[in-house]
Amino acid sequence: MARDIRIALVGFGNVGRRFAEKLRGPYARVLREHGLHARVTGIATAHHGIAVDTRGIELGRALRLVAGGPHRTRNGLEGANRPLDRLHHGRPLADVRAFIARVPADVLIEVTTLDPRSGRPAIDYVRQALGRGLHVITSNKGPVAFALGPLRRLAARKKTLLLHEGAVMDGTPVFNLGARVLSFRGTLNSTSNLVLSRMEEGTTASAALRLAQRLGIAEADPRHDLDGWDAAVKGCALANALMGAAVRPQQVRRTGMAHVTALEARRALRAGTRLRLVVRGERKDGRVRVRVAPERIPFGDPLAGSGPDAALVFETDLMGEIGVLERGASLDQTAYALVSDLLRIARER
Ligand SMILES: NC(=O)c1ccc[n+]([C@@H]2O[C@H](COP(=O)([O-])OP(=O)(O)OC[C@H]3O[C@@H](n4cnc5c(N)ncnc54)[C@H](OP(=O)(O)O)[C@@H]3O)[C@@H](O)[C@H]2O)c1
Repeated sequence: MARDIRIALVGFGNVGRRFAEKLRGPYARVLREHGLHARVTGIATAHHGIAVDTRGIELGRALRLVAGGPHRTRNGLEGANRPLDRLHHGRPLADVRAFIARVPADVLIEVTTLDPRSGRPAIDYVRQALGRGLHVITSNKGPVAFALGPLRRLAARKKTLLLHEGAVMDGTPVFNLGARVLSFRGTLNSTSNLVLSRMEEGTTASAALRLAQRLGIAEADPRHDLDGWDAAVKGCALANALMGAAVRPQQVRRTGMAHVTALEARRALRAGTRLRLVVRGERKDGRVRVRVAPERIPFGDPLAGSGPDAALVFETDLMGEIGVLERGASLDQTAYALVSDLLRIARER
């Protein structure tokens, strides 16, 4: 007999929608194989409305409704028509905070836009849901980079789980190593990997960036990909989750790659190297430091992949050096991270 698991989604953009699409097919099957029957009982967004339905929202309908975006109304107002509101049953909800307070759910999946300067309001949403006793899964690195310690302590007090496998390298398992991480280096921003790789082939940076946006892998504001902020936030998420640090993105020594020219990328290639935006985390004088900068990586090094491939090399206490490679970063991989976290909740609770 399958166990029911009720899911509330906060955020229904690239990741939320891909998760919902797959939950109608392959993910439902995987969850069933693990004895789970998943039902999405609520979806909240910034501009596409809010819906709660205890019986389970019809996901095909929700996806069709949001496909056209916030519609133009008869009197010409953009964004005034919040399509998901049409699926709502029950008392109206004023905002996302009211949604989190009332949605009937076991797990809140937080997949809102990253604010790389503050991590808000994602941190507040996660805190509110944990405080209510819900398990929380997020693919947003903001809460992990800015507030992991307090959020973990709150989860422990409430006996709930806070999982964030999708926050770095999508569905590739990086937060479940077991061993102690002494240092790491990685090419963690798929957009800058793709842009630099295309520049090596002669494509302009702006055309390559448009491709990343079409693939849905660029941040909502792609300047955060190119100026190293996204990599800095991911570096902090890793340092805080795996090295016991409390580093803030503002403390990261950061040089972006927006100034790198196609000529430099091709020159690096001719010299047997690839220019990549590298994030490093190291312990020095008892403190963990994170830095981000473009580096020339020799061919053969795990970080010298082509395309959007992300790579991460850890130096660990028990396994020595180990590497994780993500081939062709895609939304499927991020959406799968949410499933792997759901399975972990089922195993542990
Ligand atoms: N895309 C990827 O490949 C990828 C990979 C790994 C991790 N991530 C992370 O996953 C998260 C989601 O990414 P995404 O690509 O799905 O983003 P997205 O397409 O921009 O979608 C964000 C969703 O969050 C909603 N939202 C934004 N601000 C909100 C707020 N203040 N309150 C409630 N809802 C809000 C948006 O609502 P409206 O649409 O109505 O404005 C939208 O539904 C981000 O944190 C991102 O960094 C993404």
